[in-house]
This record gives sequence, structure tokens and C-alpha cells, in this order.
Amino acid sequence: MFPKWYDKWNKDNPTNILGPAILVGAAGGAIFIGAAWWAVWQGPYDQESMQTGPRGTGMHVARFTSDLNTQDPSIANFVTFPPVVPTEDSVRAGDAIEGVEPLLADLTVENYERLITAMRSWTGIEDLLEPGLENYQTVVARSMIQMTQELNEFWEAKVNQNPATGNVGVNCYTCHRGEPVPTHVWFKLGDVNMAAAGWSANQNRATVQSQFTALPSDALEKFLLEDNAINVHDLEPRVSAAMRNPATVQDTYRTYALMNYFSNALGVNCTFCHNTRAFYDPAQNTPQWTIANLGIIMVQEINNDWLVPLTDEFPADRLGPVFGDVAKVACATCHKGYQQPMHRLDMISDWPELAGTGEPVYE
Ligand code: HEC
Ligand code: HEC
Ligand code: HEC
Repeated sequence: MFPKWYDKWNKDNPTNILGPAILVGAAGGAIFIGAAWWAVWQGPYDQESMQTGPRGTGMHVARFTSDLNTQDPSIANFVTFPPVVPTEDSVRAGDAIEGVEPLLADLTVENYERLITAMRSWTGIEDLLEPGLENYQTVVARSMIQMTQELNEFWEAKVNQNPATGNVGVNCYTCHRGEPVPTHVWFKLGDVNMAAAGWSANQNRATVQSQFTALPSDALEKFLLEDNAINVHDLEPRVSAAMRNPATVQDTYRTYALMNYFSNALGVNCTFCHNTRAFYDPAQNTPQWTIANLGIIMVQEINNDWLVPLTDEFPADRLGPVFGDVAKVACATCHKGYQQPMHRLDMISDWPELAGTGEPVYE
């Protein structure tokens, strides 16, 4: 069957192939077992899937188990102290300390000092609201305290969705995390190459605002500062006269830029909020879509009612590089890439002073 020279060569060179065969077999077996073990175990690529919609619709969010097991590191540095319930002997801060911030003058001395200590830790500003000190940080802090109270009171459906399962809410640390300037703030960007032919539509620029994609860089500005229509999807043909505001391709890109931002800000994918077979149909979206809608309006309010009016208070080095605009908030300023900021850490039970606009209620 084999050529003669082959049989002859074999006869002249007798070799025991059993040894090498066992070696090759053992190595092959090890590779096979290793591959099978990897396929089951998956190591760092092991995923968990969160079902977000009806079965069979592909509505789930897959995430690496290793990520889910990693806590938001800033939780460890969160400073909180329980309130000191006032007694009949308690003294008002306004009566005991000279030059005290008028907004906090009615607190008892103990609670005033407790709150100031915490706010300094949360914002990383060591002399924040030092009695008698009047600088821009004092002015801003005053607004921020009122803003925080209003967020907790009027946006409870957004930031404290189910007090029955425990309070969440927000305080200074939710955004600041120990820094005077919170991370994930944003500024307006101008057009580039205005003189060149064509219209850039603010696209094709690797910016933080576009999440380093080619999508437009002005989505946050158009949707979270201005109130432009995000809707671009329906079942009407684009040429239909029935469409009052036909969305352009650029509008669609901008909506996608915002959605890309949402996904990254919360560390989820599109099916966390949408049934992707019908982006146009709110009835098929998830409850989180509704919360996201509240988020949009809340962020517009934070930016327009609280931050923009403070623009003139800030020194120039805190303002935007192109338009000199104030730093603004978006979803990631609180969420920092997590589905819920600090995994629903309770930010208000210890802080009745910040939990609403009225007199703090101490239990
Ligand atoms: C929703 C997010 C958010 C919350 C909550 C928040 N801040 Fe701010 N804060 C900001 C943003 C955005 C800025 C503007 C950043 C800058 O300084 O340019 C800012 C700026 C400040 C500044 C000025 C810092 C500087 O040096 O420029 C102070 C002071 C401040 N905040 C205090 C507070 C205090 C006190 C609280 C809680 C009572 C609070 N903030 C809650 C978002 C927030
Ligand atoms: C955190 C929730 C959330 C995530 C995640 C999210 N979206 Fe959205 N999306 C919304 C909300 C809320 C609206 C509606 C805004 C409005 O109409 O005012 C919307 C609107 C849209 C629209 C326009 C729908 C219409 O009626 O025209 C499209 C398209 C869309 N999203 C696509 C996506 C894609 C693609 C992704 C993933 C990259 C995504 N979304 C991720 C919340 C989300
Ligand atoms: C001022 C801080 C803050 C900002 C800004 C913010 N969120 Fe949230 N968000 C929260 C907090 C706190 C929770 C958790 C509330 C709870 O679980 O009770 C939350 C929860 C959510 C949830 C529900 C998550 C879940 O697991 O059910 C969605 C969806 C959401 N936010 C979307 C958004 C979007 C989209 C934006 C931007 C348009 C945004 N948020 C901006 C603080 C914020």
C-alpha cells in the first residue's frame, strides 16, 4: 500500500511511537478540557443577564459579572452622621455663631455643625460656608442647598422611586464625590471649520459629548439644555405630508447620540428602556423609559433654573472653553456609569435638612 522506500525506511529505522503518541494525546486532551472549562466558566467574560421585557422579545441587558461584583468605589468615601434630635435646650446656630449662613441659621448648633462638616467632605471644599466668608463658593453653595432640597422634594419620583424599599434621594455627594467640580459635567461646543465648505453639523469629532463617536457633539445641549424634540421614529414614510415636523437625518443622528450617552451614563444597553422593535411606541417601552423621561426634564431644570443663573458668579477658569458657559449636569453627573447612583445608597435618611424644602423633620 505504501511505496517501497517507505516500508524499507521503516524497517531500517524502527521507532516506538507509543511515547510521542501518548504525549500528543495528553496535550490534545488538556487543550480540549481547557477549552470546555473556559466555555463553561468564561472567567472575566462571564455575564449575567437582566430581563427587562416580555420573554422572546430579546429585552435583556447582559453585563459582566465581574463588573456587577465591583462596587462604585466612591461609596467607601461617603461620610454620613445621623441627625441630633433637637431638645428644649438646643440652641439655634444663628444665635450662637456669628456670621452663620442665614439659610442654615435655624438649625441647632449640633446639626448645623454636622451638616457643614459633611458638606465640606462631600464637596472637598475645606472652608465651605465658613461664617463671614463671602466668595463665589458661598453663593453657589447657597443655591446648591436649595437645589438639592427641591430635587428631593419635587423629583421624588425620579431620585427616590420607592421609599417603601428604603430611601435613596440625592445630596451633594451624589454629584460632587469629594471634589469641588463634579466629574461628568459638560460645556457647549461650537462648530469647527465654519469657513470650510459644507456643514459640519457638529459631527465627526471625537469629543466627550459625542462619546467619541462620529455622531453629533451637540446632543446634550439640544436636549438637556434646550428642549428640542427627541422623537424621530414613526411608521409614516418620511415624505408624508401628514408629518408636521419631518425629522432630518441629522436629527436622527442627534437622537442616537443622546441615546448612546444615556446607555453609557447608566452602564446599560438600549433594551433597558426600549423594546427595540418599536422605538416609537411608548406603550412597549419599560418602566425605566418613563423614569428616563422624568430624568430629561429634571436635568433641563437643574441646568436652566440652577446652574445657568449662576454663570456670572463663577471665575473664568471654571467656565467653558468655547462659550464661557457654566458647567452643566447630565445623567452621568449623578449616575457615573452605574444603573443607579452608588447602587441606591441612602443619601437622605441622615439628612432631613436636605431631604425637602420645609423645616427638617427629626425623628
Ligand atoms: C445635581 C448635581 C449637583 C448636586 C446635587 C450638588 N452640586 Fe454643587 N455643583 C454642581 C455643578 C455641576 C457645579 C459646577 C461646577 C463648577 O464649579 O464649575 C457645582 C458647583 C458647586 C460649588 C462651586 C465649586 C467650585 O469651586 O467651583 C459649590 C461650593 C457647590 N457646588 C456646593 C454644593 C453643595 C454644598 C451641595 C449639596 C447641598 C451641592 N453642591 C450639590 C452639581 C451639583
Ligand atoms: C435610560 C433609558 C434609555 C436608554 C438606555 C435608551 N433610551 Fe432611547 N429613549 C429614551 C427616552 C426616555 C426616549 C424618549 C424621549 C422623548 O421622546 O422625549 C427615547 C427615545 C428614543 C428614540 C426616538 C423614539 C421616537 O419616538 O422617535 C430612539 C430611536 C431611541 N430612543 C433609540 C435608542 C437606542 C438605539 C438606544 C441604545 C443605544 C437607546 N435608545 C437607549 C430612553 C432610553
Ligand atoms: C440628580 C441626580 C440624578 C440625575 C442628574 C439623573 N439621575 Fe437617574 N437616578 C438617580 C437616582 C438617585 C436614582 C435611583 C432612585 C431609586 O432607585 O430610588 C436614579 C434612577 C434612574 C433610573 C432607574 C434605574 C433602575 O434601576 O430602575 C433611570 C432609568 C434613570 N435614573 C435615568 C436617568 C437619565 C436618563 C438621566 C439623564 C437624563 C438621569 N437618570 C439623571 C439620580 C439622578
